[in-house]
Amino acid sequence: MTIKSADIKDLTLAGQGRRRMDWALQEMPVIRALMEQFSERRPLRGLRISGCLHITTETANLARVLTAGGADLVLCASNPLSTQDDVAAALVADFNVPVYAIRGENTTVYYQHIQAALEHGPQITLDDGADLISELHKSGGKLLTDMIGGTEETTTGVIRLRAMARDAALKFPVIAVNDALTKHLFDNRYGTGQSALDGIIRATNILLAGKVFSVVGYGWCGRGIAMRAKGHGSQVIVTEVDPLRALEASMDGFQVMPLAEAAARSDFIITATGDKHVLDEVQIQCLKDGCVLANSGHFNVEINIPCLEKLAREKVRVRPFVDEYHFHDGRRIRLLAEGRLVNLAAAEGHPAAVMDMSFANQAMAVEYLLARRGMLDNAVHAVPQHIDQRIARLKLEAMGIGIDHLTREQQRYLQSWREGT
Ligand code: ADE
Repeated sequence: MTIKSADIKDLTLAGQGRRRMDWALQEMPVIRALMEQFSERRPLRGLRISGCLHITTETANLARVLTAGGADLVLCASNPLSTQDDVAAALVADFNVPVYAIRGENTTVYYQHIQAALEHGPQITLDDGADLISELHKSGGKLLTDMIGGTEETTTGVIRLRAMARDAALKFPVIAVNDALTKHLFDNRYGTGQSALDGIIRATNILLAGKVFSVVGYGWCGRGIAMRAKGHGSQVIVTEVDPLRALEASMDGFQVMPLAEAAARSDFIITATGDKHVLDEVQIQCLKDGCVLANSGHFNVEINIPCLEKLAREKVRVRPFVDEYHFHDGRRIRLLAEGRLVNLAAAEGHPAAVMDMSFANQAMAVEYLLARRGMLDNAVHAVPQHIDQRIARLKLEAMGIGIDHLTREQQRYLQSWREGT
């Protein structure tokens, strides 16, 4: 096999990457089922796909499904700090998938890698955060002519794409994988709940029990983080801008208050909003000495890092992934993973068992886009309900969980309005 061109850290890491991919695959029964079906049917034969995703063991197993289906796939990183270099090496060496991703790459290299993925001339794009689609639209011209459609993995990306569609800037249909129930109810909630805490614990090794732990944003990720922090024995505070979510957090048993108030009490603050500078100068000025800050949103904009830099007299890397800012007034504020998503930078991202369903949605969304070629508007589309249902059934089956079925009488009852008490 001639290895196609790629830009990765070290090809000799491939053995370890492959072993870790296989380990993850054991927790991905839906992906295994799809891999088998795709290799028999070859529904993606010759289809050029460029994916801008976190280069992890789970993504590599998605790559196996797509290439088993016949796709001609190229991958680049969707975040400079999330790449697992051994996995990138295994994809190149064992699966001949060109990968452009090096952990710790700077912004210039990050965008060069996106350009390399675009040079593949994709017909379908896979995004996690919408950087690939955004760059593709900026390049415009010839690249757009072959496009069938794209998929988007995460909340932040879906928000960006909806903004593009609103501005009539989106030039092909995109499937919002994030919005499938088998994606966000599990990946965003239980995946982030586990992996964000995993990142914080690996980076700091500070006991969470008895600490005040604030979660900024009570979307599906925030809900998961708050639930798991509570399980660790932290006193959990939730801060929100949405009255309904704030109410829900309160009735879920969390304290709810403005972030500036929470900042004065918190030992840990983690952002999960998808918005910019949610921890801004006003709140930073209220932080107590020793507070640990982390972000689990897609981009590194949620914590106002330039403000931390401005207020500090020095910054010291006290442990891997922990930068301590020493303020002029004597306070020490600890920022994890440079404000990038802590779960992928300081840990290994979501566990395979939830990525199993997220990436099954990705693979089935690609097949759906191909089957509906030319029939979908240039808009953001939902994953069809039958795909969601099928993934849930496959997952339950793999978990050995049986469920009941409606009787004919019950089906008829649910469809009629005549019968009351
Ligand atoms: N996003 C969050 N966790 C992930 C993982 N393990 N692989 C790919 N993308 C992810």
